[in-house]
Amino acid sequence: MDLIVAADRAGLVKARDALGPGRIALVPTMGALHEGHRSLIRLAREHADHVVVSVFVNPLQFGPGEDFSRYPRTFDADLRTCEEEGVGVVFAPSADDMYLPDRQVEVSAGGMGGVVEGAFRPGHFDGVLTVVLKLFNLVRPDLAVFGQKDAQQLALIRRMVADLDVPVSVVGAPTVREPDGLALSSRNRYLSEADRRTALALSRALRAGAARAGTAGPAGILDAARAVLEEAARFDPPLLLDYLILADPATFGPVGDDHRGEAILAVAAKVGTTRLIDNMVLTL
Ligand code: PAJ
Repeated sequence: MDLIVAADRAGLVKARDALGPGRIALVPTMGALHEGHRSLIRLAREHADHVVVSVFVNPLQFGPGEDFSRYPRTFDADLRTCEEEGVGVVFAPSADDMYLPDRQVEVSAGGMGGVVEGAFRPGHFDGVLTVVLKLFNLVRPDLAVFGQKDAQQLALIRRMVADLDVPVSVVGAPTVREPDGLALSSRNRYLSEADRRTALALSRALRAGAARAGTAGPAGILDAARAVLEEAARFDPPLLLDYLILADPATFGPVGDDHRGEAILAVAAKVGTTRLIDNMVLTL
């Protein structure tokens, strides 16, 4: 079946009903699609008969001084990607169509939305959860696929679905990386060649920490990762660390020495004008 492009909420509801019977999977994105997004679409197709991809750079989740206006917009290429991947509907509304001019109500991400990434981006996760809940209500999917690359986002979406009884199954997908370890991101296209060399320290630090997970406790894991990041702070351009944390996947608080089971080693840093995040799931 041909790809249907819905440019507004009314068009989406019509396109969704034209899909016919079967399970529907939603893959929310902000466009500038790369191999990471493709892997989400492929996973969605394994779980469902129809895939809906949303392409919407959500103004609500960007703070003042963040990159909303310069966020990469590559809509024609995104449509070709979706066509190649067998997507049924692309939903690409304008901000004016998505948000009512007199809107008042938003989803609150609660305490877990204010730590780690949320401490550096106040209001970010409220904006993410608000748009994701709207997308769920418009598309009414059986399931939705999100990347582990944004680990705190994935955890908060699972929390929202549990706390608000949202009838959507959430499927997590592994992080897709370049051969040199750099996690794919729409923001990687901001990086110069020198920036990119510095940016490699993020995944290198995570691997150094992960290598100690079998033998060391939280402090030893963090020390190994921090050593790599401190070296990269002396590169040109330097790596400017926002945070490095070994977080409890349930709360995103720091794990204690007696923590057993999964923990998320997460890092965020600026390289030049670009802010990057990455993480790995470790077993303690
Ligand atoms: P965006 O950054 O476009 O990411 C869309 C989805 O792709 C997210 O679930 C993200 O975790 C996943 N993704 C990004 N890079 C990935 C990689 N290297 N490997 C695997 N998956 C990857 O995340 C957002 O958009 C927005 O916050 C959104 C959920 C769409 C709400 O506006």
